[in-house]
Amino acid sequence: MKTTKTIQDDILRLKRENDICILAHAYESQDIWEIADYVGDSYGLSLKASKADQKTILLCGVRFMAETVKILSPQKSVLLSHPSAGCPMAQQMTVEQLNDLKKSYPDYTVAAYINTTSELKTACDVCVTSASAVKIIRSLENSDILFIPDCNLGAWVSKQIPEKNIQLVKGGCPVHTRISAQETEQIRRLHPNAMLLVHPECLPEVTIQADYVGSTTGIMDYVKNSSENEFIIGTENSIVQHLQFACPDKHFYALSKNCICSDMKLTTLMDVYRCVHGTGGEEIHLSDDVMSKARRCIDTMLKY
Ligand code: 13P
Ligand code: SF4
Repeated sequence: MKTTKTIQDDILRLKRENDICILAHAYESQDIWEIADYVGDSYGLSLKASKADQKTILLCGVRFMAETVKILSPQKSVLLSHPSAGCPMAQQMTVEQLNDLKKSYPDYTVAAYINTTSELKTACDVCVTSASAVKIIRSLENSDILFIPDCNLGAWVSKQIPEKNIQLVKGGCPVHTRISAQETEQIRRLHPNAMLLVHPECLPEVTIQADYVGSTTGIMDYVKNSSENEFIIGTENSIVQHLQFACPDKHFYALSKNCICSDMKLTTLMDVYRCVHGTGGEEIHLSDDVMSKARRCIDTMLKY
């Protein structure tokens, strides 16, 4: 029988022999973190994808992330570690719905959260991630912004940039929006000395209670640089375990036991093993037209 360690050793050997770069989103499990070339938030993954030297990139995360990698590296083979891993938020709006909506906001700049399909990005002006949204939207010349599809991230961005007129639509992350204001108040009472760190995909009544709001990497960096000792973590619960490994002397509490992304949980170490063996995953194929149009929107984000 194989052990975690022997599978990891095989993966490390095979990815070197087969010239594969493994990129993992921070919500993936610890055994995957340990064999990845880079782990980070959506923004960090996009940057790494645009600079990786290897001829194949294996993305451990969800489909829109693998599509972003393919758009940034069209000449490379890009594999999604688990073909069924998608982000439900990315399916919340079609190009037809967006084109209809744009008729009501003709002079607005359309800013798309990166958690969207590549088809939808073809109809948008600029892409943002949770880590880059405030900076990018503040830098845009136009003060009228149509922000899709996450109204919670959009509301938080809008609060940071009151000088912009940000139009929101109904949409968001079904995982982060499970966290209620009431359970946030309860856990604060239970751990009165803990700092509350949350992802901007949470509801406004949750983010308003937080000491810090940021991307997955932002939350992890905040903890590492903080002199505080206790933290309540309001994002996917894998981050609690990763922080325990990174900062064993600090204490972490999950804000909600329901904050688990079943799509991010689909990828296992054995999926990664099969991918580096050449027998697993799904190679991402996008049409040249979709890639070139969606790339404009991603390039604008990277430019800013
Ligand atoms: P990050 O940009 O923080 O990685 O967020 C991506 C995501 O899907 C969070 O749910
Ligand atoms: Fe999508 Fe939410 Fe899962 Fe992130 S946590 S991948 S936004 S469903």
